[in-house]
Amino acid sequence: MSEPWRDDFPALADGMVYLDSAATTLKPQPVIDAVRWFLEGGTAAVHRAVHAKSVAATDRFEATREALARWFGADTDEVVFSRGATEAINLVRRGLPSLGHVAVTVMEHHSNFVPWMDVPRCDRISVDTDGNVNEQELKESLAAGAQLVAVTHQSNVLGAVTDLRMISELVQKQNAALLVDAAQSASHDPPQLHDLKLDFIACSAHKMLGPSGAGALIVDRKWYPKMRPSLLGGHMVEQVHLDGWTMQSPPHSFEAGTPAIESVIGWGAAVNYLQQLGPDAIADRLATLTDYLLQRLGAIPGLNLVGPVSGRRGPLAAFHLEGMEATAVARIVSQRDQICVRSGYHCAQPLHEHLSMAPTVRASLQLYNNEQDIDRFCSVLDSVAKIACM
Ligand SMILES: Cc1ncc(COP(=O)(O)O)c(C=O)c1O
Repeated sequence: MSEPWRDDFPALADGMVYLDSAATTLKPQPVIDAVRWFLEGGTAAVHRAVHAKSVAATDRFEATREALARWFGADTDEVVFSRGATEAINLVRRGLPSLGHVAVTVMEHHSNFVPWMDVPRCDRISVDTDGNVNEQELKESLAAGAQLVAVTHQSNVLGAVTDLRMISELVQKQNAALLVDAAQSASHDPPQLHDLKLDFIACSAHKMLGPSGAGALIVDRKWYPKMRPSLLGGHMVEQVHLDGWTMQSPPHSFEAGTPAIESVIGWGAAVNYLQQLGPDAIADRLATLTDYLLQRLGAIPGLNLVGPVSGRRGPLAAFHLEGMEATAVARIVSQRDQICVRSGYHCAQPLHEHLSMAPTVRASLQLYNNEQDIDRFCSVLDSVAKIACM
């Protein structure tokens, strides 16, 4: 796979090297065009009116639901729109208020950690330095009655990819539920709802080449009767009387209020764009780039990578540079050569605590990156490392 699509990303025209796609991805032209279509001429409320504008906007909005269902191996009515992965996870937490026992891994993003902390029993399942989930602890938690396991598909710090099939089998044996945070993997390795027998998948549009402000909870429909909507108001109701109301059928019953219409429409264009390139081709390209990044970083003196260095891993690398604070490194590479990387705890402070790890610098890749981006980053880092060693 070469990289003719770099031209599709106008943000790259200013010459920067963007290595922060784990935080948010750049947007290709078709996404910008779709948002522009809505903002310029297509503006109308969705689902409400019978006029042509509303019908056209609703068609495009609902087409995104269909595209997402295909992307995650689900049915269209199993896609609930939210404002992002964080809200999707909270929809489950608030939707199942009587949960008494859950299990989460210690490598979760805060968005898949904090919402579970107020469950009466929340088991923190440990991981090793490569991000392998402790199977024994998970089995013990399930045997002790954990009703739901919430786990990331790909760590946004270690790059580790979770063995979802193994976890799903353990969870099914105990009749528990499995929620997968796919925020990091959704663009190139979307977990398949029914194939993997998952119960919930959370994702965000802005990490899949789409706009921010939109996300989704993909739900096995068997959960709908057990879940209560956490937001009440317009659209989620069917009838409202002076003394009561009835609910629409799901997924609409979980989508109160006017949604982020232009973001959802833009997201549809993003998923179509990804689909045209093909998830396998994207994953292959990212794997090649990731290997190259790890190899180049590994050759820099005083640079210590975290996470697995071989085997399946996500398209990112986090590291420490001896003698330098992570934020100083990120600032220097930005100032010297317009290179965008992230530094800090990456919203995964419990993982850092668990591994007694200082904040890291993180470089993350997407399909618009190439080997020259990595070379540019590593050559600046190399000079920074030499100064740090002096
Ligand atoms: C693994 C993971 N989960 C959840 C989130 C939260 O996503 P959002 O802020 O789009 O809701 C992120 C964002 O960085 C993430 O990396």
